[in-house]
Amino acid sequence: MKLKTKDLLTLAELTPKEFVGLIDSSIKLKKELKKGANKPVLKNKTLAMIFQKPSTRTRVSFEVGMYQLGGHAVNLSSNEMQLSRGESIEDTAKTLSRYSNCIMARVYDHKLLEALAANASVPVINGLSDSFHPCQILADFMTIKEKKKKLKGLKIAWIGDGNNVCNSMLYGAALTGISISVATPKGFEPNKNVIKEAKKTCTVELTTDPFVASKNADVIVSDTFSSIHNLDKKRLKKFLPKYQVNDKLMKSAKKDAIFLHCLPAKREQEVTSSVIDGPQSVVWDEAENRLHTQKALLAALIHA
Ligand code: CP
Ligand code: NVA
Repeated sequence: MKLKTKDLLTLAELTPKEFVGLIDSSIKLKKELKKGANKPVLKNKTLAMIFQKPSTRTRVSFEVGMYQLGGHAVNLSSNEMQLSRGESIEDTAKTLSRYSNCIMARVYDHKLLEALAANASVPVINGLSDSFHPCQILADFMTIKEKKKKLKGLKIAWIGDGNNVCNSMLYGAALTGISISVATPKGFEPNKNVIKEAKKTCTVELTTDPFVASKNADVIVSDTFSSIHNLDKKRLKKFLPKYQVNDKLMKSAKKDAIFLHCLPAKREQEVTSSVIDGPQSVVWDEAENRLHTQKALLAALIHA
């Protein structure tokens, strides 16, 4: 499949059909790989990857994904680029567009990605910004579809910080019509505009009570209380112990509820070991699915 949008910065660029189409392509690519190898649909294509922040999953899944589709990825740490000496993002975008067929960037300020996309002649993918993490949500919804065999009619409970991953999760819910209940402390709610947008096509509940969110939930999701851009240790006091996903909270959801976490996780903070390492956790499939969704996305954005 091919996408209409040139870039993927938030998920709002996608139609519901495209979003579900990407998930279905990812499931097909996964099956194809397990049988042996994928077709080299990105032969001779190159992905430039810019990282302003650390990464394990995003970096490796994009690099391995390009290789498995017959292409190649170049890893660029922003502090080793001329960006660190003041070269503009506009000039960087124009330069990288002459060497590569796609740019993936992990940045602090989301506006930097917008400037990168506006000046690059090749597709730009958000590999996480302070505001959004669209690639993570593709993998999360693929995992939900694999485990629940459907997306329609499900309920997601997001517990903790209304952060970048939560903002993108709201877009994912809006694209699929899944209901989402978000439990955060006061002042840690997700982005107001995203909530407004999501409410147009799905049920969004905002609460300060994790047990209100988890009621009848099919999927419980958490993430670190301190994101890379938000490392203030005092934040923890606002979240603990109330917003920790533990056995009691899991028991309050549906019996067959699954637990998702984008990783990296801080055990005994946002989630107990008993939950993340327990039978309802699907975090390793979720991490693996970053590879398959990354590949579907690259193949759909890099037009021959
Ligand atoms: N979930 C995720 O994006 O992981 P990394 O920070 O390791 O890339
Ligand atoms: N919310 C986390 C996600 C890490 C993949 C962060 O931004 O650090």
